Amino acid sequence: MEVKFKDQLSLGVASAATQIEGGECGHNWNDWYTRGNIKDHSNPARATDHYRLWKEDADLMASMKIEHYRMGIEWARICPNEGEVDETAIAHYKEELRYLKEQGITVLLTIHHFTNPMWFERKGAFTKKENIRYFLDFVKLIVNEFGSLVAEYITINEPNVYATNSYYFGEWPPGEKSFSRAVSVMSNMAVCHINAYRMIHSMRESMGYHDTKVSFANHVRVFDTQNPGNPWHCICAKLLDWFFQGAITEAISTGNFKWPLKGSKDISHGEYLDFIAINYYTRSTVSGFGDGVRQDAPKNDLGWEIYPKGLIRCTEHIYQLLKRPIYITENGTCDNQDTFRPKYICEHLKVISQSNLPISRYYHWCYCDNFEWVEGESARFGLVHVDYETQKRTIKASGRFYTKMIEEGGITEDLYREYVEPLKYHY
Ligand code: BGC
Repeated sequence: MEVKFKDQLSLGVASAATQIEGGECGHNWNDWYTRGNIKDHSNPARATDHYRLWKEDADLMASMKIEHYRMGIEWARICPNEGEVDETAIAHYKEELRYLKEQGITVLLTIHHFTNPMWFERKGAFTKKENIRYFLDFVKLIVNEFGSLVAEYITINEPNVYATNSYYFGEWPPGEKSFSRAVSVMSNMAVCHINAYRMIHSMRESMGYHDTKVSFANHVRVFDTQNPGNPWHCICAKLLDWFFQGAITEAISTGNFKWPLKGSKDISHGEYLDFIAINYYTRSTVSGFGDGVRQDAPKNDLGWEIYPKGLIRCTEHIYQLLKRPIYITENGTCDNQDTFRPKYICEHLKVISQSNLPISRYYHWCYCDNFEWVEGESARFGLVHVDYETQKRTIKASGRFYTKMIEEGGITEDLYREYVEPLKYHY
């Protein structure tokens, strides 16, 4: 089998500050750890020690021929207390951004990726409308400081995942279980994005840059029924789809807030994305108000179904709402032994290459194994293996495969035979 990438497709890798940097920064995941909520008891203060090893990581990435890197910055590190800015942290990120540029790596910068400084968390974070201004102050600071180094931004990563895990399922900090809170968080985050979108554009415009691109990273999944003939399954699938992703996608992309979300007076209908940013992992099989998985489906090490076609099904749906270039800003899998990752990558890139959608970037999640939120260090998603004791990085077979695909502009017969053909998923 051969997969030829369309000319416009570039491959990159993604990461998030909290998952790689390490350090006690006074954020809600440092706190969540001290309260014993990480399944394998690993500490986000260790992670991959990237804050210290950033140069080594940049060099390794460049050696892997990576030209696009989606990375984050840590709000709590930059603003350790309300109204305070740590200039050494700013200088650190500037040095890292400059260095990446020198290596020919273009950065897509994520401003918020799940983690809050504790001073913001204690105020109620995104549950309160009056807290929106703290996030916008941070966005302003970021564009002032890094605006000349970065043209492309993700304002917020996966507001739906953040809101539901933190406020509905109670598995992430602050561990609440309230539907109405989760809804307020999604509404407020949509308002945050739209205001940040306008702000980033106007600030960079006044700095003389006309190449600004802004979006939010939209976590989407397919909700299919376990039994399409069962009306209850159908109703649940529709409602889950709407509550989890339909309403927020529309609100944040177009300013059209529909039940149960609520907008704000200063938000009018418009177009608030320069590109569609899709994070896609899996499909849910619905038979009630919970997360189900098809029994006979191929699965990854966390039990998530591997369903490549879903990437296109979800993306097509969003493209109908707003026609924009598409970046897949996350796609990847938990494969602790790296036994099927090349097959997973191949199948997802195959559906991308066969589709007519204007997908121009694919960022693999993730560059190296890292701190996987409540799963801690036990779930490995990386192209690069990390030995957490020594912090030694070793490129996995999937990482070598990734580099070769970049060099070849696709998956040749030889690459397929060497890296993909022998592999299988779990059933
Ligand atoms: C998140 C990542 C996370 C990945 C795998 C995405 O939803 O943005 O931070 O590591 O999923 O669980």
